[in-house]
Amino acid sequence: MTSSNRWGNVPAIDVINLGANENDATKDLNIAFVASHDMRHVVKTINSLPSNLSGNLTILLNDITTPIACRNLALLFILGMIPDEALAADVALHLWYSVFLPEEYRVQVGLAIAAALDKSRDDSITVPIGKRSTVSWFYPPEAVAYLVNLAPDAEISKLSTPSPNTVEFKARLLDGTIGIGYDSSDPLEGWDISAVIAAGKAHGARPEDIYGCIYFYLTEQLRMFAKRLRELSISFKLYSTEACGLAQAIKSGRLTELDLPPTVRFNRIEVSNILDAQYVGMDAVLTTWGPLLSDNPFATIVGYFLNWPLLEKDGDPTTCEDEDVIDQCIKCVMDRDERRLRVPLRSPPDALPEFPDDDNWYDYTNLNKYSWAERFVEFSRK
Ligand SMILES: C[S@@+](CC[C@H](N)C(=O)[O-])C[C@H]1O[C@@H](n2cnc3c(N)ncnc32)[C@H](O)[C@@H]1O
Repeated sequence: MTSSNRWGNVPAIDVINLGANENDATKDLNIAFVASHDMRHVVKTINSLPSNLSGNLTILLNDITTPIACRNLALLFILGMIPDEALAADVALHLWYSVFLPEEYRVQVGLAIAAALDKSRDDSITVPIGKRSTVSWFYPPEAVAYLVNLAPDAEISKLSTPSPNTVEFKARLLDGTIGIGYDSSDPLEGWDISAVIAAGKAHGARPEDIYGCIYFYLTEQLRMFAKRLRELSISFKLYSTEACGLAQAIKSGRLTELDLPPTVRFNRIEVSNILDAQYVGMDAVLTTWGPLLSDNPFATIVGYFLNWPLLEKDGDPTTCEDEDVIDQCIKCVMDRDERRLRVPLRSPPDALPEFPDDDNWYDYTNLNKYSWAERFVEFSRK
């Protein structure tokens, strides 16, 4: 995790948006997050489903960076296995967002992981969470060490000295599970700031205390997610491998025994910004994952471009002096039918972000480091 952002840097997306699409709470849905980074899109998607959902969900969750994939797995174990939902949510929140783990939470993390590793020593590595959900994970061998180190034991802590906080901090740095990532990494970027402020206000936190607000917001989200893990029927399949290789493995039949036969099709495939040329690129993503998309009008590949200005001459608006470049960029956006951040779905491609008032504008532009060059895209078979 050391070479990337610690947290995702675009707001969480509900990739199903059931009411505006299938609008059928009985339907089974297969959803793939092929370069997930953290779990925010999964949490947002599952929390946005209606509470009367009776269909079965299959969630394929993959990220090439094994420490990130391990953190996601640990979060699912914690949220699904600690019986008290409020405690489960608080332990998960600390593991995901805090540099420090209180001692009693470290024990809880350790117990959840030990239970999961223990159960996975049987023939199968499918672990039940809740009454109707399961987690299966297929990680490279080094993942076990990352998982164990998420709750470092006393031996690791002895490597450091005095303050319990310093010990914990260093231990988690040493084992690579915390990973400072870029110093610009900020939890606020992964969630919709209006919703964060609203959650804070509901608990008496002022918008100025924005990290207090996000504490309340995340607590709500994680409690709801823990509840849904217990109520819904969800089969999580977690991988830590290269996204295109994973698609090829499914198509070749190599994952049939893991319930991902070549015939499997996905209702949504979330590809993050591996669409950017700096990662995989649009052609390779669509060529490998496109054939695995279900053949119906709602099935969609959802993704975004973040890094395209870096490859454009004068792509940085803060240094660009040539107004023609801006015009050309606007034309490209119009031609490609993409959406900006903070623009309602189904708006025309030239629609600009909407901010109802000055405070709202400030929250989105000054409390975050969005570039406003982010472009969100959807691909379907139509
Ligand atoms: C595409 S990165 C983008 C991170 C950040 N938005 C940025 O631009 O630096 C998001 C996630 O994709 C994962 N990732 C990158 N390339 C991948 C690939 N080919 N297959 C699977 N996951 C990948 C990374 O590990 C990371 O967690």
